[in-house]
Amino acid sequence: MPVALITGGSAGLGLALTTTLAADGWSVVTDGRSADRLRDALGATPGVMTIPGDVADPDHRVALAAAVRTLGRLDLLVHGASTLGPLPMRALRDLEPADLTRVWEVNAAAPLALTRLLLPSLQHSRGVILSMSSDAAVENYGTWGAYGATKAALDHLTLTLAAEEAVTAYAVDPGDMRTGMHQDAFPGDDISDRPLPETVVPHLLALVRRRPPSGRHRAVDVPISDEPVSDVAILEPVAGRTGI
Ligand SMILES: NC(=O)c1ccc[n+]([C@@H]2O[C@H](COP(=O)([O-])OP(=O)(O)OC[C@H]3O[C@@H](n4cnc5c(N)ncnc54)[C@H](OP(=O)(O)O)[C@@H]3O)[C@@H](O)[C@H]2O)c1
Repeated sequence: MPVALITGGSAGLGLALTTTLAADGWSVVTDGRSADRLRDALGATPGVMTIPGDVADPDHRVALAAAVRTLGRLDLLVHGASTLGPLPMRALRDLEPADLTRVWEVNAAAPLALTRLLLPSLQHSRGVILSMSSDAAVENYGTWGAYGATKAALDHLTLTLAAEEAVTAYAVDPGDMRTGMHQDAFPGDDISDRPLPETVVPHLLALVRRRPPSGRHRAVDVPISDEPVSDVAILEPVAGRTGI
């Protein structure tokens, strides 16, 4: 039974990934700060374990890692939980240091800390890390400075870790999606022309299935394959490794 940990599974892309994998027989551990939102979105979904909490909270990260260990392996770790920072989004000169710290903690420091907790499990299962990046990591848009800088940091941390450790990792820009976060970034705009997050999921899973060398990708550039999701498949655990 393949196992995924997906942060931010109660909405948007994280929810779309969680329900797709669970429907295909995966066990999925996921979180979100609002317990009500998690329960409403996923409460009755077989194979899904929900653990409410904030990824920036070290105790919550330990709880996520402990839940994964009860499942005995980790094939996919998705860093999806993220913040834009204070809303409405604003110029760097109008951000307080505490705002910057919070955006850094959620978008970059927490994914690194969670990955470190789970490295033995990932290496045991030859699992894959997917860090949800953004075009803002490589482009400079007014009012997107804190978010973009932390997404650039997330890319760097993800891919440096892959260079240092025996683990495959991808920083992936999912592209614009019709989600709560996107609406928060463009308050009052009609975002109904943006693709739904469900359309991005096959690209992410095709990347995991194909397993090119670690690197940064735009989801839209990853060709979709026809194989069932379960073919994302799990590899045999590394012989002699008992890290989980
Ligand atoms: N939407 C886009 O156009 C777009 C474009 C480029 C990149 N991305 C990236 O794609 C990823 C998914 O975005 P999305 O648009 O699907 O987001 P979304 O719809 O806003 O969903 C975010 C999810 O993360 C959870 N979350 C937020 N902060 C959290 C925290 N501190 N701890 C734990 N969970 C937290 C939310 O639940 P709670 O609020 O209850 O915590 C929710 O389940 C993000 O990394 C985002 O930066 C999105």
